[in-house]
Amino acid sequence: MSETRKRKTKNIPNNSISDKDKTKEGETKTVSPKSNIPLRVLSRAVVIFSLLIIVYFTSNDGAFKIFAKQNEVISGKGQIVECSSAYLREIDKFEGCFPKQCKRFVTDKVITDKEVDELLMIAKKGLKYGGSSGGASILDLHSGALSMGQHFINFYKRSEGKNVFTEKDFTTYKVVKNKIKYSIGHYFGVNPEKIYLTHPTFFSEITSKEAVTVHDEYWHPHVDKETYKSFHYTTLLYLTDYNIDFKGGRFVFIDEKYNRTIEPRKGRVSMFTSGKENLHYVEKVTSGTRYAVTISFTCDKQYAIGDPDKRKFNNDL
Ligand SMILES: *[C@@H]1O[C@H](CO)[C@@H](O)[C@H](O)[C@H]1NC(C)=O
Repeated sequence: MSETRKRKTKNIPNNSISDKDKTKEGETKTVSPKSNIPLRVLSRAVVIFSLLIIVYFTSNDGAFKIFAKQNEVISGKGQIVECSSAYLREIDKFEGCFPKQCKRFVTDKVITDKEVDELLMIAKKGLKYGGSSGGASILDLHSGALSMGQHFINFYKRSEGKNVFTEKDFTTYKVVKNKIKYSIGHYFGVNPEKIYLTHPTFFSEITSKEAVTVHDEYWHPHVDKETYKSFHYTTLLYLTDYNIDFKGGRFVFIDEKYNRTIEPRKGRVSMFTSGKENLHYVEKVTSGTRYAVTISFTCDKQYAIGDPDKRKFNNDL
């Protein structure tokens, strides 16, 4: 085998040298145009092809910007966007809750590693009892809603749901929620006492499983305020790492000129105004498991919900 390979590789240079020699020798007016035309065509084709490749890749880069990379630690990065008119009109009614500017904001510095680990454990130990038949499952600590097959059950009404979460779990959730609430106050220039936790707020677990119901289809572009009327500020806290724990599953803001991606990173918080200015979707997860928490806030006190706690779900039992 190796001998034949050697022979073959030896033969190729030999042939090409003899070809070159031939063309050098045979440089007559009649022969050269014939042999040069395909060469010219070939070199042009190569130039055009490489130009096309360059254009293709630069245009792709141009339309798709990374707003927050997984492997970078971001103290704070914001982008101001123009508030949609519907959002402005509605939020105008709520004093102290009006943002200085509509925007997106990402920070890796608000939630500690320990808090993230504790939240991830809450998510895993709850979701273990459920699981959507498709790729997306949720667990809502407030209502006890848990994906199960093609439906949701109230986990708190099941005997196995009685003692899964501890007092400490609820405290961790509350501490994290408050940190995020005060961050919104700080970064959006609103009074944190005037924004209220609202429904739904939930842990999500996404795998690459094929979707079965519409609840599994998280990848459609949407505006949070259109899906959930009470929302004014949406926040997401990522509990696992993009490209390490899972592939795909980047968060994408859809803008006119570029789409901007947020690559999930453990402990990364992304916050944005919930109106049309922040149209977005999540890419399909292609492998691994993606965990995140959605914590949403409203300016409208009538949609406020309290913190989840053990007492509340004991009353349900
Ligand atoms: C942004 O994403 C949307 C939804 O996938 C797509 O339709 C649109 O073409 C993308 N925009 C750009 C500039 O790539």
